[in-house]
Amino acid sequence: MPDHSSVLPHATLPQIQALAAADMAAVDALIRTRLASDVVLINQIAEHIVSAGGKRLRPMLVVLAAQAAAGAAGPGADRHQLAAIVEFIHTSTLLHDDVVDESDLRRGRSTANAIWGNAASVLVGDFLYSRSFQLMVELDRMEVMQVLADTTNRIAEGEVLQLLHVRNPDTDEAAYLRVIERKTAVLFAAGTRLGALASGADAAAQQALYDYGMALGYAFQIADDVLDYTADAADLGKNLGDDLAEGKATLPLIHAIAHSGEAVRQRLRAIVEHGDDEAMPEVLAAIHATGGLEYSRQRAIDYAAAAEAALAGLPQSPALAALRGLARYAVERTH
Ligand code: IPE
Ligand code: IPE
Ligand code: MG
Ligand code: MG
Repeated sequence: MPDHSSVLPHATLPQIQALAAADMAAVDALIRTRLASDVVLINQIAEHIVSAGGKRLRPMLVVLAAQAAAGAAGPGADRHQLAAIVEFIHTSTLLHDDVVDESDLRRGRSTANAIWGNAASVLVGDFLYSRSFQLMVELDRMEVMQVLADTTNRIAEGEVLQLLHVRNPDTDEAAYLRVIERKTAVLFAAGTRLGALASGADAAAQQALYDYGMALGYAFQIADDVLDYTADAADLGKNLGDDLAEGKATLPLIHAIAHSGEAVRQRLRAIVEHGDDEAMPEVLAAIHATGGLEYSRQRAIDYAAAAEAALAGLPQSPALAALRGLARYAVERTH
């Protein structure tokens, strides 16, 4: 099949946001009302992280996929609730992730664990997880429950798999990709597939949107891992260098370990294995010397291109141009 990706339109971020705005207002209202609990601490913590915003990329993917897959009857009515469910799951993984990663900055604010402690963060994360299951049961669609049960289970596997690689200097690119598929990409893929399902898309369109979401998720996480080395912290709203500090070898460092000379390689391996709070300049120098950032960015661009290619069989529409635009955004973003 010829590659038309360079000639087909890519919506810009403002255009994408405008196209999704009405849907996202409905999703936001649902998130707000369905967050509530009569346990005060739950409201406080959930409100703290939700009102900080975040990019809301995953729910946006759900509603745009629903728009892209819509037939004559228009996008499916369940799309707003599905989008809220996906954002609840994402938010609960962030609460858990910041405990595991001992992070103290998220969305430009102190993390919940930094303010209320690990126990409260884990438990409120569990609350959001189970609230998302309440919302999905309400929809009473076995296929939806199947997708989300499988997805959340695989996310948990991804997080544990990642834990097994902490401080492991033998973590290679293949192992890294296995982790990011589960911890990040499967939720993107579930989101776009659920959007398709909401609109009653046929199996081929569901598969196309699922493949798009999966590849996009890889691109997004690789870009996130590059940003952990390169971003402006105020812009990112997270601390830089968290991955190295916690002994997590992500793609830029994996590339540097694989392509440095013997002495530097042994030094990098020791830094991953034993930790060294002062090592960042040294690690950055090795990453620069081996072209680790360019390599990682290129891998992200390749996945973004694969995401776009997956959309090839779907009818052209503004929503499809928005999905293509998001593939571009995922690798060009600064936060
Ligand atoms: C953070 O996701 C976790 C990763 C998978 C890298 P986002 O960057 O989408 O976080 P928010 O929701 O915008 O804060
Ligand atoms: C994201 O991984 C894991 C989740 C799916 C929650 P990171 O640990 O890289 O995410 P950030 O950088 O803390 O947002
Ligand atoms: Mg983290
Ligand atoms: Mg990160």
